[in-house]
Amino acid sequence: MAQPQVMDKLVSLCKRRGFVFQSSEIYGGLGSVWDYGPLGAELKKNVKDLWWHAMVRARDDIEGLDAAILMHPRVWEASGHVAGFTDPLVDCKTCKARFRADQLEDAKCPQKPSRHPGEHSTCELTEPRMFNLMFKTFMGPVEESASVVYLRPETAQGIYVNYLNVLQSSRQKLPFGIAQIGKAFRNEITPGNFIFRTREFEQMEMQFFVKPGDEGEWFERWRGLRMAWHRELGLKPEKLRWHEHTGSELAHYARAAYDIEYEFPFGWSEIEGIHNRGDFDLTRHQEHSGKKLEYFDQAANTRYLPYIVETSAGADRVALTLLVDAFREEQVDGELRTVLGFHPRVAPIKAAVFPLVNKDSMPETATELFNDLRKRFVCFYDDGGAIGRRYRRQDEVGTPFCITVDGQTAEDRSITVRHRDSMAQDRVGMENVAAYLAERL
Ligand code: GAP
Repeated sequence: MAQPQVMDKLVSLCKRRGFVFQSSEIYGGLGSVWDYGPLGAELKKNVKDLWWHAMVRARDDIEGLDAAILMHPRVWEASGHVAGFTDPLVDCKTCKARFRADQLEDAKCPQKPSRHPGEHSTCELTEPRMFNLMFKTFMGPVEESASVVYLRPETAQGIYVNYLNVLQSSRQKLPFGIAQIGKAFRNEITPGNFIFRTREFEQMEMQFFVKPGDEGEWFERWRGLRMAWHRELGLKPEKLRWHEHTGSELAHYARAAYDIEYEFPFGWSEIEGIHNRGDFDLTRHQEHSGKKLEYFDQAANTRYLPYIVETSAGADRVALTLLVDAFREEQVDGELRTVLGFHPRVAPIKAAVFPLVNKDSMPETATELFNDLRKRFVCFYDDGGAIGRRYRRQDEVGTPFCITVDGQTAEDRSITVRHRDSMAQDRVGMENVAAYLAERL
């Protein structure tokens, strides 16, 4: 299948089956803002739950945080975002389109035939000007410069300004980390590729505070752990790779940075960044707030500003990666079968329960089983249409197991479990179904 076609098919499947809808669609949509439907909300929740479990609950040395989106405006002066979180923007006076000046080779002029901006004789591009990506709003009833606040462009700063609060209240010692999941906003000039680059998105960020000198070792350790996490989601290992940032690619805060990239239909692109931020952030916040942010190292009887290793992933990008990685079409008995081959861990629905036909007490038995299973797993009940069609509908949304109550169930209380990928069926006693699923999920 041609690669661009994969994205078109996926976007259409996401809408048709309730994964992702365009924001405010009935009003014509809002540029690069998306809403998650019933199945998309489950998928993204699974991503965030797995991240939170791996980063917070399964570790003794990381604490969770849920900081507010709105922060004191001086936070963004200290962080460097007011001065430096900018992209070079050019406008075309002819077609009124806007482009990133540093990405003109990847952009398309809206005029036909298809060419890059500036290549048509009628193109009239302005000189590049720096455009700040932060969304501004006003706190209180007066719209004046004194009341400007920003929608946070990253969740990390909420962690830095709370680092002493968390340290003291949790009685942690270095090395330790703070993790949070939350919305971030960027007024991207060239968003796109569905939910890959959007103006409102969710980040899953962890800042690990270490003694100066230990950051190199922790940087390597976190690189290994984060790549392993993506593989455990079931992503194809050959589709994942590292990209090291060098020279001007390095963000203003980073001493070293590696991206975890995935090979999307539109090319290799970043899904997570691992950054050695040194003492940049705490130094800046200490200077701008006038508050001492040093750590007292009891063992060494000395004070210092910790260094920070950051892991920063996008929940939406990981969700898109899972969708792309899982999508496949295959011929089965002369018919096209569309499958989202999710790892059971991330699948939005874990099991679907069907009565084979709507008679002979099958619906009653299937409902009883469904009500029992849904206490433990996200399940779906479907009694509509031929059984083959019901299987296909679940294949398309990635449900790993379909359970059917049939004629034999009344005789020996057994049901069939049909596996999404192999389409093989097992006969399992009704009493054992929950354990059967738990073992495989
Ligand atoms: N605190 C560091 C930081 O924010 P970043 O590389 O700008 O670093 C980290 O962003 C991650 O956030 C990216 O790897 C990506 O997954 C996600 N992300 C960034 N901008 C995004 C956007 N416009 N839409 C969706 N996800 C985005």
